[in-house]
Amino acid sequence: MGFRKVAELDALRDGGVTGVEVDGVPIALFRQGNEVHATHGICTHALAFLKDGYVENGTIECPLHQGVFDIRTGRALCAPLTQDLATYAAKVEGGDVLVDLETASTGRADE
Ligand code: FES
Repeated sequence: MGFRKVAELDALRDGGVTGVEVDGVPIALFRQGNEVHATHGICTHALAFLKDGYVENGTIECPLHQGVFDIRTGRALCAPLTQDLATYAAKVEGGDVLVDLETASTGRADE
């Protein structure tokens, strides 16, 4: 399947997080200037949508218990998190944001 358009860059707030759904999978998109990073959209700790979280210094803080993930690597950075977040390859082409769901890294990728 490869890369698919999931959003337009202009629709994403720079420095923020936006939630989209692709084939029923919630994805969190993080715009950093003209770059976009993509992770699974649900926290690995419990059922919280990261689109409602707080982005700061390349991290996303979960809105429910304040667990923090690195948005580039998906790495869980503090308690109560014990599992990394799945990340996906993402790129920007001609103003479109493309994500490849088949490139899921470790973490929560199959829920
Ligand atoms: Fe995210 Fe608990 S649900 S830290």
